[in-house]
Amino acid sequence: MAIEDTHNRPLLDLRISVTDRCNMRCRYCMPREHFDRNHRYLPKEDILSFEEIVCVVKALIPQGLRKVRLTGGEPLLRRDLHELIHQIRSCSPELDIAITTNGLLLKKHLNQLHQAGLSRVTVSLDSLDEKIFQSMGDTKAHPSIVLDAIDAAQNIGLPVKINTVVKKGVNDQHVVSMVEAFGPRNIPVRFIEFMDVGTTNDWNLENVVSADTMRSSLARHFGPLRPRQPIHKSDVANVYTTKEGWSIGFIESITNPFCGDCTRARLSANGSIYTCLFSNKGQDVRGILRMGGTPGDISQAIQSIWMNRTDRYSERRTEQTKRLKVEMSYIGG
Ligand code: GTP
Ligand code: 5AD
Ligand code: SF4
Ligand code: SF4
Repeated sequence: MAIEDTHNRPLLDLRISVTDRCNMRCRYCMPREHFDRNHRYLPKEDILSFEEIVCVVKALIPQGLRKVRLTGGEPLLRRDLHELIHQIRSCSPELDIAITTNGLLLKKHLNQLHQAGLSRVTVSLDSLDEKIFQSMGDTKAHPSIVLDAIDAAQNIGLPVKINTVVKKGVNDQHVVSMVEAFGPRNIPVRFIEFMDVGTTNDWNLENVVSADTMRSSLARHFGPLRPRQPIHKSDVANVYTTKEGWSIGFIESITNPFCGDCTRARLSANGSIYTCLFSNKGQDVRGILRMGGTPGDISQAIQSIWMNRTDRYSERRTEQTKRLKVEMSYIGG
């Protein structure tokens, strides 16, 4: 039986951050001036082991858990990530196991991840243009590394999606070219409205391009976009198709929030449960794990956290823009 919160939302998805480190410094996520040499990352001993993570997953499967998404920071910086996937897969053959990665290390690990039982991969890619890619990600890497990894993933039969964060005046003129590049290869592109996560990314409503505006520019080029029925009520993206049948998603957290159907819990790398992306505080489960807690104990703890959940941050954004919020690289988006 699924656990439900105070708004009757079941807990169906678990986003697991496996590290708070990243090999990119996207301006909207980990601006270098804040995430520099002096930044204090989580010490190794605070980070959950694979066995501890698996214990949390085991606790939630009997409660109806449907999807696990591994995130970071950059999840592929965690050594032997395929081992974790293998252990999670051993808990359930049906579980949807996904990963959100920036793709820089993907090609190298792809076969092991696939063989371990990964279901699919989402690659963050903001632009195909070298200069824009490098300035948004504050990196010297070339987007061709990411493109190669995407090709390789497709070639071994792993379903791929692309996530593109859109910022006004930065990459908003390139939404058409992203769809032209990936549509013919049947890779859905999802455009994400720049969000006010954390406190360091200098978010401002003026830098947000609304999904409506993006749809208008796309429709001018591709013709009318047809809305597609969601697969799950809780899907974060509103998906449309072009006349060619290419899929384009919009994650409209700013202009069209989706808290009403939010079924996602987040587990930070150091073992706290966050019931909202915009929470300022998590609830520790590592203590229970390290005192010898069983999946049953964890299940009970998470049930009581979830049953008290009231979060609807995006829907109430205007009332609380100034509140303290956790950084996205720490709880994994
Ligand atoms: P699918 O299973 O493929 O639909 O994945 P997903 O969209 O749930 O995960 P992904 O990591 O690709 O996230 C896409 C974007 O949606 C990221 O910018 C996330 O931060 C954002 N996102 C995911 N879940 C939530 C949420 O519950 N609330 C808000 N506001 N944004 C979310
Ligand atoms: N606004 C919107 N999306 C963001 N992401 C990271 N920071 C932000 C932000 N401020 C995206 C990443 C990745 C996903 C997990 O979240 O690009 O695709
Ligand atoms: Fe790293 Fe992803 Fe954040 Fe970019 S968005 S800094 S790739 S965690
Ligand atoms: Fe869920 Fe919080 Fe995002 Fe709303 S803002 S959809 S409650 S994570």
